[in-house]
Formats: sequence, structure tokens, C-alpha cells
Amino acid sequence: MNSIDLTHDYVTPTYNRIPILVDKAEGYYIYDENGQPYLDFTSGIGVNSLGYNHPEWVEATQNQLSKLQHISNLYYTEPSAQVAQKLCMHTQMAHALFVNSGAESNEAAIKVARKYGHQQNEKKQKILTLTNSFHGRTVTTLSATGQDSFHKFFGPFTEGFDYVEANNIGSLHEKIDDQVCAIMIEIVQGEGGVVPLNDDFIQEIALVCKEKDILLIIDEVQTGIGRTGKLFAYEHFNVQPDIITVAKGLGNGLPIGVALLGQKIRDVLEPGDHGSTFGGNPVASAGANVVLDTMTEVFLQSVEEKSAYLKKELCSLDAVESVSGLGLMIGVTFKEAKSKDVVNSAKEEGVLFLTAKDKLRLLPPLIIDKAAIDEALSCLKTILKTEQMEGLK
Ligand SMILES: Cc1ncc(COP(=O)(O)O)c(C=O)c1O
Repeated sequence: MNSIDLTHDYVTPTYNRIPILVDKAEGYYIYDENGQPYLDFTSGIGVNSLGYNHPEWVEATQNQLSKLQHISNLYYTEPSAQVAQKLCMHTQMAHALFVNSGAESNEAAIKVARKYGHQQNEKKQKILTLTNSFHGRTVTTLSATGQDSFHKFFGPFTEGFDYVEANNIGSLHEKIDDQVCAIMIEIVQGEGGVVPLNDDFIQEIALVCKEKDILLIIDEVQTGIGRTGKLFAYEHFNVQPDIITVAKGLGNGLPIGVALLGQKIRDVLEPGDHGSTFGGNPVASAGANVVLDTMTEVFLQSVEEKSAYLKKELCSLDAVESVSGLGLMIGVTFKEAKSKDVVNSAKEEGVLFLTAKDKLRLLPPLIIDKAAIDEALSCLKTILKTEQMEGLK
């Protein structure tokens, strides 16, 4: 029996999978079991920031793998200490709290915020998030996710969340009261359809947080680690978060998650308050060090340049209504074509894209080059001509 059939028979069907059996990958191409290449504009949903088989990342993880694979957090290891230092130095945060995924980094952030609130006033426990947000799949991060479609079947959900309408300053002020201990936002709502927050709205949130001693949590799980052309997306907006949550791109293929905690809350958690068996795993951390070392100013500048080129070319296509997003996190709305149809047709042409709500979502590896961008654009042009003609029939 082939592995696609085995998966259907034995793996819980929580994903609508595309029928490609991925065997290997190199750079920004993935290959099926027959060696058929596909240009990858998905990066494993924002994970493979350095593409596949990045030589230094492979070397660092393999070296670490042959030295020490895991040890509990009852001891010290070098790779995670270095990741923590690099992240804290860059963000002016005080501490890194290691976990294994985006949802867990948000869970950790929520726990820190609640304990901080509790220390001030037992009732200061409410966390505001935004409508159309996405923060993960655990019961608590589903509660944090401001979309009704995620609030069914799995209740009772964690209490103490309320939702501000995204980009609506009036709604922000309506929801603020003395029970709010934190506001959690994504700078660009990825799963929500690549929807960026407005500068005014972000500034107002930062101001309210400062005035009322409310923690500003920025979920950089999808936007972080160079995806938007800065190491973190909040850096485009001149605000200073109290907590930053990180995962996906930091791992570049191995599971890792981090909640970065600011000076004000560095001492909120004590031994026993939180833990994660695999958190700060040496192999994942050895890879994360390479990811962070690669994110130089020159590298990030190249992400901005590729983004500008890709967006300009996308905007020039007749079939495109609008383009959203920052850096290499791009959403495309078509005048007529359906993004799901575009994904399916592009796959037939050997290019892989994602969707996010009604949009086509482009999340290429950050190492993508102009020739590969042109290949993806030319594929889109071919498809859209056909789709448009079919749409007009
Ligand atoms: C903004 C954001 N937060 C949290 C998550 C959850 O991350 P994970 O799937 O690693 O738990 C995601 C995943 O898409 C995300 O985009």
C-alpha cells in the first residue's frame, strides 16, 4: 500500500491534504517520490525560512545530533542559552521561555500575563485579542483566537478572553477595563487572510498598554524571524512589546517555540510555574542559532527587495484585485479567480501556493531568488489567463 493510502487509513484526517508524496527537498524545490520537482511558495507554512537542506543548518543540527540529542531542563546546554541571548539582545527582552510550537508559546505568554495581572489585582486576568486573529489550536489558544468558527465542539473553553475589532480604535477603548492584563495581537493576521494592522491602531494599543500597565503581547509566530523583512514585524512600527511569541521560522524544520519576556515581567515565573520536556531542545536550538546568524541586515534587506519586486509584479496582473502583507508574507485577492482553484492549477504546473481565507497566500522560503520568483509569476500568469477565460465563458 502506498503512503498516501496508508495516511488515509491510519492518520487522523485533520488536514485536507494535496496528493503529493514529498520525498525530499533542496533549496526552494520539493520533490515527490518520482523525482517530480515543485517550486515551493509555502515554506511548510512559514517554517522553512532558509529553504531545505541549508548547508550550515544541516551541519549544525547534524553535529549537535551526534553529540547530545536531548537532556532535561534540569541541566544546562549551550545551544539554547545562545538562542536566548541572541533573541534577547535583538529585542531588548530579558528572558526566553522555551517550548515547542506556536500555540505553546502563546500559552506560555498567557500564563505569564495572567500571573502578572494576578500579582496586581486578583481580577486583572482578562486578555484582549482581535477579531479575525489566530493564536493556535490548544483549548486556551482557541479561546484567544477571535474567530467564531474556532469556538465550537471543544468547549467549555478557557474564560477571560474578549475580542477587539481589528483596526478599530473605538472598539479597543470600549473593551478596555481594569480587568485587562494583556492585549495580544498579530502585526499581520496570517491565517486571517494576510491582513496587516494599521499603524494608528498599533500605536493606540501600545499607548493604552503603557498607560494602564497592560502587557502588550505580539504573536510573531508567523510574522517573525525575517518573514516581513525585519527580524520581527513589530520593528516596522516603533513599538516595544512586553512579550513576543516565536516559533515556525526559528525552527526552520525542527519544532521550537519561545516566549520572550520583557524586563517588567522577567521575574514573574518561578521554578514549577511552567515547564516543557522538550523546550530548548539542543538539536532544534543548534539549528535556530544558524537561522538567527543568517538574519543579517543584508539578508533582511534582500527580503524587502524581493518583496517589493514580487508585489509590484503581482499588482500589475490584470486578474489581481489587490495585494496585501509585509515582506515575503503576501496575500492576493483576485477579481474573479478563486484562490483554491489557483492553488490546484498551480500544483499541476509545478508550483505550490497556500490560501488564507479567500486569498492566495505566498510564503516562499526567504532565500528564494529572482529567477524562482519569475517562475512563480509566470505560472500565475498562465493559470490566470485560463481561469479568466473560463470565468468569462
Ligand atoms: C500567528 C500564529 N500564532 C500561532 C500559531 C500556532 O502555531 P503552531 O501551529 O506552531 O502551534 C500559528 C500557526 O499558524 C500562527 O500563524
